[in-house]
Amino acid sequence: MTILVTGSAGRVGSKVVRRLLEAGETVTGFDLRTSGLQHSNYREVTGTFDDRPAAARAAEDVTAVLHLGAFMSWHPADADRLHRANVEGTRVLLEEALRHKPRRILFASSGEVYPENVPNYLPVDEDHPLKPRSPYGLTKLLGEELVRYAERTSGTPATILRFSHTQDAAELLDESSFFSGPRFFLHPKIRQQEGFGNRAMVEALQAIDDGREALVLSRNEKGRPFRMHITETRDMVDGILLAFGSEQAAGRTYNLGATVAFDFAEHLPRMAQLTGLPLKTIDLPGGGVFYETSNAHIRSELGFEPQWTIDRMIAEAAEARARRHRAA
Ligand SMILES: NC(=O)c1ccc[n+]([C@@H]2O[C@H](COP(=O)([O-])OP(=O)(O)OC[C@H]3O[C@@H](n4cnc5c(N)ncnc54)[C@H](O)[C@@H]3O)[C@@H](O)[C@H]2O)c1
Repeated sequence: MTILVTGSAGRVGSKVVRRLLEAGETVTGFDLRTSGLQHSNYREVTGTFDDRPAAARAAEDVTAVLHLGAFMSWHPADADRLHRANVEGTRVLLEEALRHKPRRILFASSGEVYPENVPNYLPVDEDHPLKPRSPYGLTKLLGEELVRYAERTSGTPATILRFSHTQDAAELLDESSFFSGPRFFLHPKIRQQEGFGNRAMVEALQAIDDGREALVLSRNEKGRPFRMHITETRDMVDGILLAFGSEQAAGRTYNLGATVAFDFAEHLPRMAQLTGLPLKTIDLPGGGVFYETSNAHIRSELGFEPQWTIDRMIAEAAEARARRHRAA
């Protein structure tokens, strides 16, 4: 039994690899980057998913596939790379893996396939129409199609998990974090919007900038605070392994994420208090972010039960921030 885990150097994949090794499995990791992990039951291939010789090496002896790796970017200049990594890469990887007749495929999709930011209704469930609005969301939907095609034509059952936004708790109060920096901290947010070339956003943010770093309570142009799901990586890993080991999950598609959404108005004041940073409330141009996603199916059918409340995540984030500051 060799389980192929793609994205093995990433936030989710690296922890899935460790959990599988702890359970006594033999694992091959496949990623652009090395994970640095050394283990007698672990082999690693570095390369891009769309590089067929690398994908063929990664797929050797594979008996199951957890395709958790992907390129994530919302920068307009990255569309070509997104399609190469997430669409062509998924096609090539699946073709190479299927040569070995694996017993199961599990694919990490995303709530951006709906997309949650412009929902037809709330909470967003698995029956919601699929109408991605970002190149990233489009590549995830095309990835789902490739996975279902592979399932239909090979007979290997596949499980698709539409991931909530996922963070290590420690990232929440880290201004250098890829996600949490621009989401919660003023200066990284300005830099991100400058990179996107979004003048209206940059001007609105600069208007509240007095030069000091601050936390930002983002609201939309009508003053509605942002609301979205943020799920701890360890809960996601539990859900992935639960679905991967379940016969009932074969052929199924589930939303995977926290039960309760993260409400910016509720949690940003506490985050400001813990960091000692000023909190700035801003009404940003546009409709903003406001959604809830239902995890009811994976909870009722597979017994998924997330353990990380937002309060617990914030407490761990504050400890991690304090440790970083002591070390600096
Ligand atoms: N983190 C989130 O908020 C979130 C939300 C929805 C869906 N997802 C999906 O969950 C999965 C895991 O996300 P994560 O947070 O661990 O991401 P991550 O960025 O931490 O890990 C992804 C890994 O994929 C690797 N990778 C990217 N392009 C590659 C390529 N062309 N060839 C080989 N390796 C490549 C990267 O090097 C990285 O190690 C991804 O499929 C992502 O699309 C994540």
